[in-house]
This record gives sequence, C-alpha cells and structure tokens, in this order.
Amino acid sequence: MTVNVRKAAWLLGLVPLGWLAVKAGLWGLGANPIEFIIRFLGDWALRFLLLCLCVTPLLRWLPRLAPARRTLGLLCFCFAASHILLYLGLERFFDLEELWKDIVKRRYITVGMLVFLMLVPLAVTSTNRWVKRLGFPGWKKLHRLVWLIGFLACLHFAMMVKFYAYAEPLFYAGFLLVLLGMRFRAKDRIMPGH
Ligand code: HEM
Repeated sequence: MTVNVRKAAWLLGLVPLGWLAVKAGLWGLGANPIEFIIRFLGDWALRFLLLCLCVTPLLRWLPRLAPARRTLGLLCFCFAASHILLYLGLERFFDLEELWKDIVKRRYITVGMLVFLMLVPLAVTSTNRWVKRLGFPGWKKLHRLVWLIGFLACLHFAMMVKFYAYAEPLFYAGFLLVLLGMRFRAKDRIMPGH
C-alpha cells in the first residue's frame, strides 16, 4: 500500500484541531477560551514550521517524505493566519486602527506582524510554478527567510511570557539552532519541486 505523503501531512494538520475540539468538549478551554485558542494556533504555527524544517535532514533516509515539506510549511501559514485572524476578530473586533495601535505599541505584536509578513511570500511562492519563475537559486535564497521567521517567531513567543517562563520558546529556538547547524554541515542539499 502506498501512502500519499502530502495527504498524510494535511491530515496531520487536523490532529491539533481534533485535539482542541475534544479538549473543548470534555474539559473546557479554561477561564479565557479565546486566549487559549489564539495561543494554541500560534503554538502550532511554530511547531509546523519546525516540523517543516525537519524534513530536509530526514530526506537522506526517507526521500519519500519530500512532498510533506511544502504541506507542513503551508500548515504553518494556515495556523499563523488563523491565529492572527482570531486575534483580530475576537480581541480587536476587526478594528484595523486598534491593530495598528497594537503593532506600534506592543513590541511582541510588531515582531508577530513582521513574522507574518515574511511568511506570506514564502506561502505564495511555494508552488513548482514559482520555483521555475524565480529560478531555483533565487527561490532558494528567498526561502532561506524561513530561518529568520523561525527565530523571530520564538522571539515573539519569548516577549510575551510571564513569570520568566522562557523554557518553551528557548527550547524551540535551540531546536532551530540544531537544525540550522545540521543544514550548514550538509552543505545545502535542499531540492526544489516537491
Ligand atoms: C500580526 C501578527 C500576530 C499577532 C497580532 C499575534 C498575536 C499574538 C497574541 C495576542 C498572542 C497571545 C498573547 C497573550 O495571550 O498574552 C500570541 C501568542 C503567540 N503567537 Fe502570535 N501573533 C502574530 C503572529 C504570529 C506568528 C506569525 C506566529 C508563528 C509563526 C506566532 C506564534 C505565536 C506563539 C508561538 C505564541 C505563544 C503561544 C503560547 O503562549 O503558548 N504569532 N500572538
């Protein structure tokens, strides 16, 4: 039986949402469910970004995983977009002026916005057609932004933690550093077109 890796990766995106629904039904989402869901989506955006970056080093042993890379990147984008949309809709009632005030005043929102603005071109250019259009070297250069996005997303997370609870964002940043180190050692074996 052959497994469609891309479909399997999309299904993986449903796992956190399924878990969220089960948790909401069985145990509830705490005193502030809106904040819980916004944070949950932000967490998973970052986790899918890290999972996406795990694919390249694994290709050496599991080359069939290649199509999962794009899907995991798009899942990161979808979760990040929902994270922002819920924040904008449920906490700022789609008042763009309020959002702008937040971006200017609250540093972690400024960083979050920057991260999202950098994610957009990566999501748009994730297709084979864009790889051709930009040429592989140009496309690869643009997609190196993913590392900056990863570290800035960790910073966005670290800037809002309370009571010095830095363990989780630091863990993600450390994980990113290990992946980056592996990439340097492997001397850029990334392949386009999956
Ligand atoms: C305009 C862009 C963004 C806005 C306005 C925004 C807003 C927020 C807000 C309001 C929180 C919760 C803070 C709190 O409850 O005190 C949060 C948490 C978080 N956001 Fe964002 N965010 C943005 C972009 C992003 C992006 C692009 C990512 C990831 C790729 C991301 C990842 C996270 C993470 C990991 C958390 C922490 C969740 C936790 O506490 O467990 N955010 N963001």
